[in-house]
Amino acid sequence: MVVHEREPFNAEPPPAALTGGGITPLDAFYSRNHGPVPDIDPAGWRLEVDGLVERRLSLSAAELRARFEEAEVTATLQCAGNRRTELTGVRDIPGETPWGPCALSTARFRGVRLADVLACAGLDPRTAHIAFTAPDVSPLADPPQPYGVSVPLGKALGPEVLLAWTMNDRPLPRVHGAPLRAVVPGWIGARSVKWLHRITARTAPSDAYFQATAYRLLPAGADPGRTRPGDGIPLGPLTLNCAVLSPADGSRPPAGPTVITGYALAGEDRTVARVDVSPDGGRSWTRADLDEAAGPWVWQHWRTVLDLPAGASEVVARAWDCAGATTPESPATVWNPKGYANTSWPRVRLHCG
Ligand code: MTE
Repeated sequence: MVVHEREPFNAEPPPAALTGGGITPLDAFYSRNHGPVPDIDPAGWRLEVDGLVERRLSLSAAELRARFEEAEVTATLQCAGNRRTELTGVRDIPGETPWGPCALSTARFRGVRLADVLACAGLDPRTAHIAFTAPDVSPLADPPQPYGVSVPLGKALGPEVLLAWTMNDRPLPRVHGAPLRAVVPGWIGARSVKWLHRITARTAPSDAYFQATAYRLLPAGADPGRTRPGDGIPLGPLTLNCAVLSPADGSRPPAGPTVITGYALAGEDRTVARVDVSPDGGRSWTRADLDEAAGPWVWQHWRTVLDLPAGASEVVARAWDCAGATTPESPATVWNPKGYANTSWPRVRLHCG
């Protein structure tokens, strides 16, 4: 793993570990934490459901398993800060983790549907948002407070949104949220709350730091040190993104036919329709072979062979989704002070021998 920080632990796999797509092995799954990984005694752990509900619930892990039908989803989680380093070439982004192109991974999660648990609690008709709270306290939050975010009710009721206790058929690892995490497929990873212990039905979005202040798209001119809760656009559904996994940026492959591989992810329940790759910085393009979508919430990998001349080459990729949206050319057009949502064309500089 490429470890950006030990405490809190923030690491992404090397690109080679993601090549080929499919399910990511647990030991290669990226980790994004804002505070120390909490130590939870599974015997004493309970999930509380409260707020605008007819019946408050307090469920042990055994009760959760016994009372609700089991459900499974395969989902690609992607951090909102994925590919941030490519934005820092435009302008510095101080204080944020320098994620490369691998702050995303795919797993098969099993648990119960959030919608079933909410139905059991009985939602008040005024409910518009479902908030998640976990016990980990981030020193980054101002004031320091437990991790909390929310999703609008429409998304929370989707059959794909799970409260999960397994990952790739193994018990959820501690660093990925054991004993229980929310899995919100198609949305930024920040909404998939780990170590989940409270679900609250509300009229308004969560007012916790990681919903109201962080994970919001600020205008390029804003000073992130002076933002107030509610500033900027709250990031929710993922938008179309693609990256080159191989060859590595700065590498020196032999000149001639060269295999170029990468991933694309459309976000929400959309799929990727096309990926093009250029050997010359975007002057000419070749359509890549794109994997079929294994499901609506999952990345698609692509590959092509480009005939690269001796000397410097700039390999570039661009994608379209099934709604016809395409990725923006320049990182300058999407630059924002916290470095979120970089969907610009990935560029890999090679020097072929
Ligand atoms: N949940 C809690 N309780 N604390 C966190 O710091 N990080 C979020 C989300 N859930 C976080 C959390 C972010 S920003 C991301 S991208 C994903 O978890 C990362 O999940 P992973 O570490 O299992 O890959």
